[in-house]
Amino acid sequence: MPRNQGYILATRPTREQPAGPHNFRLVESDLAAPAEGEVIVRNHYLSLDPYMRGRMNDAPSYASPQPLGEAMTGRTVGEVVATRNARFGLGDIVACTGGWQLFCKSDGRDTRKINLKIAPMQAYLGVLGMPGVTAWHGVHEIIAPKAGETFVVSAATGAVGAIAGQLAKIAGARVVGVAGGPEKCAFARGELGFDACVDHRSASFGEDLRDACPKGVDGLFENVGAEPFAQSMRRLSPFARVALCGLVASGYDGTPTSLPDMRVVLEKRAKIQGFIISDHMESWPKAQAELGEHVKSGRLKWRETIADGLEAAPAAFFSMLKGGNFGKQLVKLV
Ligand SMILES: NC(=O)c1ccc[n+]([C@@H]2O[C@H](COP(=O)([O-])OP(=O)(O)OC[C@H]3O[C@@H](n4cnc5c(N)ncnc54)[C@H](OP(=O)(O)O)[C@@H]3O)[C@@H](O)[C@H]2O)c1
Repeated sequence: MPRNQGYILATRPTREQPAGPHNFRLVESDLAAPAEGEVIVRNHYLSLDPYMRGRMNDAPSYASPQPLGEAMTGRTVGEVVATRNARFGLGDIVACTGGWQLFCKSDGRDTRKINLKIAPMQAYLGVLGMPGVTAWHGVHEIIAPKAGETFVVSAATGAVGAIAGQLAKIAGARVVGVAGGPEKCAFARGELGFDACVDHRSASFGEDLRDACPKGVDGLFENVGAEPFAQSMRRLSPFARVALCGLVASGYDGTPTSLPDMRVVLEKRAKIQGFIISDHMESWPKAQAELGEHVKSGRLKWRETIADGLEAAPAAFFSMLKGGNFGKQLVKLV
């Protein structure tokens, strides 16, 4: 068996020394042959996701903290290179929780073969994987946009946001994105087909959002928190629905979040639903089937930012948390 290489979480962030690449350490290890029922996967792509920042803390949350000294968690896609599991053959392309490493071992439970006829393998970490299903659930199970309603999505060109906005558009809504910078906004309008996109970095962000939503906001898919969330909430329409998907700009480093004035929720009789997609396994088959159909028909578009090589993972991860990614953030390992 070849030698394995991967990043472990070596230390946790502290108030004195905030999170950064220094918290990870690259280690080499021997790769034992698979035991009965196991497969070895050579990871081709690693998905970098904002939730990983929360796992670096040893604090109560919906998921347990990443243990120190173990390969950092993460979904991967790759090729089966050794197998003692009858469900998988050599050369099968699979998605699994392979972690920030070149090879992983799996007992097959969270590993599934993927269909390359629909899309390239890395799409199963984005539009056809967890981010796509998250977008589908928030749009269809929480907001349920109706034709003609105004739907706002933040981090609008990101892995979740780009898909959420396009699904709302397919449902007939008028879609307004919020994104960081003119290039991302132009992509949201031109490539993703959103009706408008406003730049949260602009000094006139609040007024721009108001102008883009003259009839108010009926559905809000919130990925960011902070100022984008506050400004969108101010513009809710009566009986608006808010899917609170993520707060990447506020609180993932453990600092208290500042949230919008909640009076608007009462005055507008709005509904806010926070959700974590791993609680909704019932959504996955339907979401993946529908997303697959949209991908096959070319209706869904997305973009990727691909960091090259395992050693690029820590820097790419922290860059993504500050908006350095343009589309789904991946690391190419092979
Ligand atoms: N609830 C769930 O089950 C679930 C599942 C998956 C993801 N999520 C959440 O969904 C959100 C999006 O995740 P993703 O994987 O699709 O990431 P992503 O949108 O591809 O990347 C993160 C984006 O957040 C935006 N951002 C970062 N800091 C910001 C700031 N200070 N102000 C405004 N925007 C900022 C940046 O976009 P701009 O440059 O455009 O601002 C950045 O590109 C995250 O909050 C994540 O935690 C939740």
